[in-house]
Amino acid sequence: MQADTLVTSARDGDIAVVTVANPPVNALSQPVRAGLQRAVAAAVADPAVGAIVLRCDGRTFIAGADITEFDKPPMAPVLSDVLMEIEAAAKPVVAAIHGTALGGGLETALASHWRVALAGARFGLPEVKLGIIPGAGGTQRLPRAVGVEKALQMITTGDMIDAREALALGLIDAIVEGDLAAAAVAFARRVVAEGGKRPRLSERDERVADARGRSELFAEARRQATRRARGQDAPLRAIEAVEAGVNESFAAGLARERAISAVLKASDQSRAQRHLFFAEREAGKIPGLGPVARPVDVASAAVIGAGTMGGGIAMCFANAGVPVTLIDAAPESLQRGLAVVRRNYESTAARGGMTAAEVERRMALIRPGAGIADVAGADVVIEAVFENTAIKRAVFAEIDRHAKAGAVLGTNTSTLDIDAIAAATGRPDSVIGLHFFSPANVMRLLEVVRGAKTADATIARAMALGRQIRKVPVLAGNCDGFIGNRMLRARGREAERLILEGALPHEVDRVLYEFGLPMGPYAMGDLAGLDIGWRIRQERGLTSPVADRLCALGRFGQKTGAGWYRYEAGSRTPVPDPAVEAIVVEVSRELGIARRSIGAEEILRRLLYPMVDEGARILEEGIAIRPGDIDVVWAYGYGWPVYRGGPMHWADSVGLARIRDGLLAMRREGDPAPAALLERLAAEGRGFRDLAAA
Ligand code: CAA
Repeated sequence: MQADTLVTSARDGDIAVVTVANPPVNALSQPVRAGLQRAVAAAVADPAVGAIVLRCDGRTFIAGADITEFDKPPMAPVLSDVLMEIEAAAKPVVAAIHGTALGGGLETALASHWRVALAGARFGLPEVKLGIIPGAGGTQRLPRAVGVEKALQMITTGDMIDAREALALGLIDAIVEGDLAAAAVAFARRVVAEGGKRPRLSERDERVADARGRSELFAEARRQATRRARGQDAPLRAIEAVEAGVNESFAAGLARERAISAVLKASDQSRAQRHLFFAEREAGKIPGLGPVARPVDVASAAVIGAGTMGGGIAMCFANAGVPVTLIDAAPESLQRGLAVVRRNYESTAARGGMTAAEVERRMALIRPGAGIADVAGADVVIEAVFENTAIKRAVFAEIDRHAKAGAVLGTNTSTLDIDAIAAATGRPDSVIGLHFFSPANVMRLLEVVRGAKTADATIARAMALGRQIRKVPVLAGNCDGFIGNRMLRARGREAERLILEGALPHEVDRVLYEFGLPMGPYAMGDLAGLDIGWRIRQERGLTSPVADRLCALGRFGQKTGAGWYRYEAGSRTPVPDPAVEAIVVEVSRELGIARRSIGAEEILRRLLYPMVDEGARILEEGIAIRPGDIDVVWAYGYGWPVYRGGPMHWADSVGLARIRDGLLAMRREGDPAPAALLERLAAEGRGFRDLAAA
């Protein structure tokens, strides 16, 4: 694409209007950078031009650098040079912002002399989410615009702010209404009439002077970043760039920013995070769906079961502004569920996360229902009752009697057979698995599980519904455990072997925590409750020698104050328990296993390689469409560290031949051979990423 078609110039009297038109998000690809440079230079050189308005066509202002260019060598002109020229321009430049000004887009606005925006515009430097830092002056100009503390917060979290806050902070000069281009031209004309001032953020010192020498400010930012983004390099390196600019000079800060930016762009962390960025978007695309109508937003929902999951799911709808009816067979459970939801909202409000009025607005969207007949008006019905096929089938037979034609009927099961549940209705084509992750109102993943008879239209609507309630939906096939829990089970099997051979539960957990996961299988078991698995094992005639013994002692996890760990009264912190160690050692002895000391490296390998193997089987069987979908499941559903890109991306970084060899070495009698797909890719010296590209 030519620079002069992506960036055009037009004159409105004495104002040059420079327009970027690079759909879908006006990313700053090389031709856009070159076009901007040329257009601004031409306007400056034109004696008839008094000022320049910089605006964008389409749905948004510039949403950042073109991420697809990151793997290529840098191509001139680099953005920071273009922006230096814009800031140094001899005529005022006014950025006219709508949609989202993100990353390099916000940096372009910050290099402009003036910024006007529509009320709906939002602003952010989301680079840390891609494992990098702003690379075109963002770490230097933002603190000079909004102050160091706020800038540190925006840069280290990557979160956006809205136009009202941007105006209050001094990030923008005006919020305008109606025709943005016309309003920006009028603003520019006023600037010219008042003498053509060109305030340059690079020369503004007072906001950073406030922070100079205040090392505690940066120490606090580091503390928060370390807690929030454990293991990630980018937030800490961003703080370093801001600090250099505050304590030294704009030029020194810029040089530091540029150096760090180059290092991080080539880092494994950034590669992993970029992979997830694109994998998340790719997961929304379902190949092979027949022609289906473009799904419309759901206008109302019903959730059956007011337990922890049901309440959390109802909150998802209320949070997205969708009225939802919450139904439970037991009136006292419904009241309790509603009270829990209210408590959740109120605790968010107490932390300053929402206003008291907002709590009431959301609660008003959650209507208590009298019975299943109340699903009648809903566009989507989600069952979240006890995890038992017979109970779920009974509920679905009842839903079938009352739900309107065309409603999506979702079951929030984490393991059960969708087809068996769908068969309880006369419309299995409308039934689909909608597997939310706990806590449902927080975790972003939604596993959408297609049954044998699920219609394409139902799949399309379920995926759209997931996006509407701000989840990341991933389509899975119907099997025991779907994508996420199936891999979790593979890991759990090996974890059990490890503790019987010599490791202790807290050692296993620590290895995974240090790898970057929020917790390991034993702390997770205590959180979820050990009794659930115990009951399922009993139903299926299975055993898990140590876990069964803990349950027989009434150690069900956090809820009973003891499980794999013990818990002080009122605390959720797991404390290793010598009583558990004694049980583990005793079971090993009973099974005739000689315990030995097992190192962290072996523990990690033995926990993660079987997950990769199971992931390969999931791909072979078509349960997941692509390796990236599995990565998205693990990043958004289980807290896999984003800077390691998900288990399949991680496997590629380790090398599949190494993983295959590791699996063969740890194989026990009766274990299956490594997955054929893994064997094949390893033999060919390829990775899962090659599969995605094929
Ligand atoms: N580069 C390349 N492609 C991009 C892109 C970017 N910065 N941002 C979005 N896209 C692509 C997406 O991959 C997607 O492509 P497909 O349709 O082929 O899947 C398409 O644009 C639309 O994106 P979304 O589906 O995400 O659309 P949305 O309307 O839901 O969200 C958005 C729009 C808020 C801009 C979102 O896309 C987003 O957050 N983008 C990334 C913004 C970002 O991180 N910018 C910083 C880049 S780094 C930088 O700027 C460094 C620097 O210092 C110069």
